[in-house]
Amino acid sequence: MPKIELRHVTKKFGKFIAVDDLNMVIEDRSFVTLLGPSGCGKTTTLRMIAGLETPTEGEIVINDRVVFSSLNGIDVPPDKRDVGFLFQNYALWPHMTVYKNIAFGLENLKWPKNQINDRVQQLLDMLKIGEFAARYPAELSGGQQQRVAIARTLATGPKVLFMDEPLSNLDAKLRMEMRAELKRLHRETDSTFVYVTHDQLEAMTLSSMVCLMKNGYMQQYAPPLEVYRKPANTFTADFVGSPNINLVEGTVIDGTEQMIRLTEGIVLQFTSEKTLGLHTGQAVVLGLRPEHISITEHASLVDATILSSLPSGMETIVALDMDGIRLHSVVFGDLDFEVGKHVGLSFSQGLFNLFDKVDSNNLGQGTLSKA
Ligand SMILES: Nc1ncnc2c1ncn2[C@@H]1O[C@H](COP(=O)(O)OP(=O)(O)OP(=O)(O)O)[C@@H](O)[C@H]1O
Ligand SMILES: [Mg+2]
Repeated sequence: MPKIELRHVTKKFGKFIAVDDLNMVIEDRSFVTLLGPSGCGKTTTLRMIAGLETPTEGEIVINDRVVFSSLNGIDVPPDKRDVGFLFQNYALWPHMTVYKNIAFGLENLKWPKNQINDRVQQLLDMLKIGEFAARYPAELSGGQQQRVAIARTLATGPKVLFMDEPLSNLDAKLRMEMRAELKRLHRETDSTFVYVTHDQLEAMTLSSMVCLMKNGYMQQYAPPLEVYRKPANTFTADFVGSPNINLVEGTVIDGTEQMIRLTEGIVLQFTSEKTLGLHTGQAVVLGLRPEHISITEHASLVDATILSSLPSGMETIVALDMDGIRLHSVVFGDLDFEVGKHVGLSFSQGLFNLFDKVDSNNLGQGTLSKA
């Protein structure tokens, strides 16, 4: 049974379309992230599901109950949707201690005092904020406040938890810890998490499904590694992965044989399981993940020159010039490369994606060889 379903949900602010005909199913107990650049409609989408924003059109179903329908005039208020929130600006109650902030929702639900105490203690431990229990929010750092906000949201054990960039105020180390913590919380709570972030790494590492948005449109809705391996278009290809995927433009010079010219001197054959129906003269874009470009001493598939080498110990990011095309490769291990050196490249590992240049959509996957 899916937990949440959005059907043709659109939100307009005046003439501006913030979310455009969004259809998505959020399965029970999944961890879904809404990912995309600033202004793409993530917060608006979350607020519509939560009931804080009224869609212009469409239908939203939570737990088999229609909570919004523009056609039938249904709009269930947020507090009747059995959901919890954690928003970008998580306002803690300033006049209440940390303990009280966490306990407040449970007191409202008339939990017995000893049970409230147990639950708050459990959350204080879980989020490592026990030592601040008696302090007021103003006496905490941003990161500590954020953890209190997470504890407060989890306290009542909501079946669906909405989080809008809940880790944005934390420093890098704490953010990494909290990511692991959130993943654990998700496993332990049996709740469905809907999480908003513009950080691709956060979305990749946390979620069971990523919904990638751009200008109010859903671009791809798939498990993170599928988005990585098989991006729906050049936008999603470019949005996930660091360093970014190399997107190299080319022209099909033989549609049947799938021969692609990247430069005057570089023509590659793209071998796919199914023929892609390419036509001669078609403008295409080849997606090359940096880790799939190997650098060899001897000339192999193509020649290149080292432009820069950035070793960080575990891996080295190498910028290359391939007949006028700039590429990035990632080489694992503590290696360094001499700038200006001529090397060979091979594109032997994994499958590569080919995109149409005009509509930017994925045409198919295949391997590359010398024509
Ligand atoms: N109340 C409003 N009135 C008019 N326009 C709005 C309103 N709320 C949001 N918008 C617009 O809708 C678009 C989507 O906004 P939204 O807050 O959903 O973006 P977002 O993806 O969460 O971005 P960010 O990563 O910056 O938080 C933006 O262009 C924003 O300016
Ligand atoms: Mg937002």
